[in-house]
Amino acid sequence: MTSELEEIIQLREQLHQHNYNYYVLNAPVIGDQQFDELMHRLQHLEELHPELYDANSPTQRVGSDLNNEFVSVAHKRPMLSLSNTYNQQEVHEFYERVKDGLHGEPFQICCELKFDGLSISLHYEKGRLVRAVTRGDGVKGDDVTDNVRTIRSIPLVLPAGLDYPDEFEIRGEVLMPFSSFEQLNAERAQHGEQLFANPRNAASGTLKSKDSRVVAERKLDAFLYYLLGENLPVQNHYENLQKAKSWGFKVSDAMTLASSEQEVFDYISYWDTKRHELPFATDGIVLKVNSQAQQRSLGLTAKSPRWAIAYKFQAEQVSTMLREVTFQVGRTGVVTPVANMDPVLLAGTIVKRATLHNADVLSSLDLHLGDYVLVEKGGEIIPKIVGVDEERLSEHRGPKVEFITCCPECGTPLMRNDEEAATYCPNDECRPQLLGRIEHFISRKAMNITSLGPETVDKYFTDGLIHDVADLYDLTLDKLCPPPLDLFGNPLPFSDKQEHLQQKNVLAGIAESRNVPFERVLFALGIRFVGEIAAKALARNFRTIQALQNATLEQMLEVNGIGLVIAQSVKSWFADPGNVRLVERLKVSGLQMELSHEELSQQSDKLTGMSIVISGVFAHHSRDEYKAMIEQHGGKNVGSISAKTSFVLAGSNMGPAKLEKANKLGVRIVGEDEFLAMIL
Ligand code: IVH
Repeated sequence: MTSELEEIIQLREQLHQHNYNYYVLNAPVIGDQQFDELMHRLQHLEELHPELYDANSPTQRVGSDLNNEFVSVAHKRPMLSLSNTYNQQEVHEFYERVKDGLHGEPFQICCELKFDGLSISLHYEKGRLVRAVTRGDGVKGDDVTDNVRTIRSIPLVLPAGLDYPDEFEIRGEVLMPFSSFEQLNAERAQHGEQLFANPRNAASGTLKSKDSRVVAERKLDAFLYYLLGENLPVQNHYENLQKAKSWGFKVSDAMTLASSEQEVFDYISYWDTKRHELPFATDGIVLKVNSQAQQRSLGLTAKSPRWAIAYKFQAEQVSTMLREVTFQVGRTGVVTPVANMDPVLLAGTIVKRATLHNADVLSSLDLHLGDYVLVEKGGEIIPKIVGVDEERLSEHRGPKVEFITCCPECGTPLMRNDEEAATYCPNDECRPQLLGRIEHFISRKAMNITSLGPETVDKYFTDGLIHDVADLYDLTLDKLCPPPLDLFGNPLPFSDKQEHLQQKNVLAGIAESRNVPFERVLFALGIRFVGEIAAKALARNFRTIQALQNATLEQMLEVNGIGLVIAQSVKSWFADPGNVRLVERLKVSGLQMELSHEELSQQSDKLTGMSIVISGVFAHHSRDEYKAMIEQHGGKNVGSISAKTSFVLAGSNMGPAKLEKANKLGVRIVGEDEFLAMIL
């Protein structure tokens, strides 16, 4: 036992260090596989020793779906914002105000990047992360500690023996690097989900997610830029941040101390262009008086400090000619107008296309072909047309650009619902929709057919090999690579081995997907509004596709998590005979259209109608297993205790706040063994 305890402590230290090497220093010293091995060993030992649970263990970075509602907490020190400046004159005025305020004393300005994410306040006690709070209204914010723990570049435990104070606060910006943002949006597009407009929205939506596993998957990053506390090692901002860096925090290398106004301007103009090479979004520069004594003597206004200011980069704007507006049909049938312009250099990239979003945006811009239009690239990475360049307006404008009335792909008249901005093609046999459904079907969270990608799907579709998802299961090697024929029409031996192997691999991937469980098959069908979670709930409750098809609206509404929108969508999907035929064909092809025997045998209605909170550390099963058990027996796992909670399934170490709340509301506490007996 002692040796296992020691091993746990050692592994935690090692993994914290490897995390730091990888995510803060960008300089890993071991490979991914070795890292995973250490992590698995630690996970294994922690499972054997639940009494050694530590919220700051490296194993906790994967998050859990047991998050509570966020609790609002008061900031220890208010989180002020900065006043903004937009040009050299305003920066000069700030510099003069500081100079006057300090009565001619020499001073230095710390110049930093203004990261475009959302601010976070982190609290450390004895070197351990204890709380992470969003800015909120500046006076109080949301406690998002569980989510922040999943951000790999934020240290959970600082190395022992360094000169950090017992208690301190460090503030910074949580952001989503462009690469993660693009990956996330690509995945969302594939599933027909709404895209995030920019990395800032994506970061903020992610950090406020109720499920910290989602946060862990989305690869957020964080830069720290402000150290606060009673006993800081030094009395100026820049050096304090260098200290923080030496304790393991990610502090930007782009910070500089300027001793003159000219140096400040040099910094601004350098980063105004150089920022386009950064892998994350910045929207300006922050200037801070470096000495804390001088900061105190300059003081604060109600909203912002007098010792700091933000300089916002101008959204770069160029004027170019509008040549054509085309209309793109997306995978869900939504039609988007796209402006095609003369290529022009904007913020480091050549721009020739820009989205015009929807019919309302298009008509408000009043565009005519041949107009010069103003294109902007601000915090958003996608270029945007902000209007017609009035200065270059010709007397004889070309024809006005109108939204189309029929689908450019299939000619069907387009539709628009009053309450929606989108115009869409109602023909679900329209090519992009057909392709979209197949791409969703094969995607990772659905049938996970990784041997197929969008290009291959497109090719098979164009070659007439597939038209819908059921056709995938009718593919054969002969169809995919027909053997060459001799002059008399007799097949010759296949010569392109590489191609042969590749297609064999595709077929193997398709064949393997026959084992994908029913709930994911249901998700893969792409029924509108039936996401992963709804599919799971429907599969668990109705158990077979036949039962789901026969279910009434009322029966569906009885299922936890299924509302009217989903229920109606399922009903109308099955009302289409084409869909019923599709299901039949998939069934014949051997897909899982009902829960497996294993899943069925584990089921009962013993917890039907109950809301159950899970809390603490368990000896017999993991939290995820308990969660699955609750669902299998008809119960619902909820995050926080309320008067409606049926009971708390409690392991050891149940949080004192939860215990108190349960007692106050008279909610019963059920231990692990008692729970297992209940569902026997
Ligand atoms: S310092 C009192 N430094 O910009 C000082 N803020 O309106 C407060 N931000 O809410 C902040 N990069 O979210 C500071 N290097 C940086 C920053 C930065 C981005 C954000 C922060 C703040 C907002 C200011």
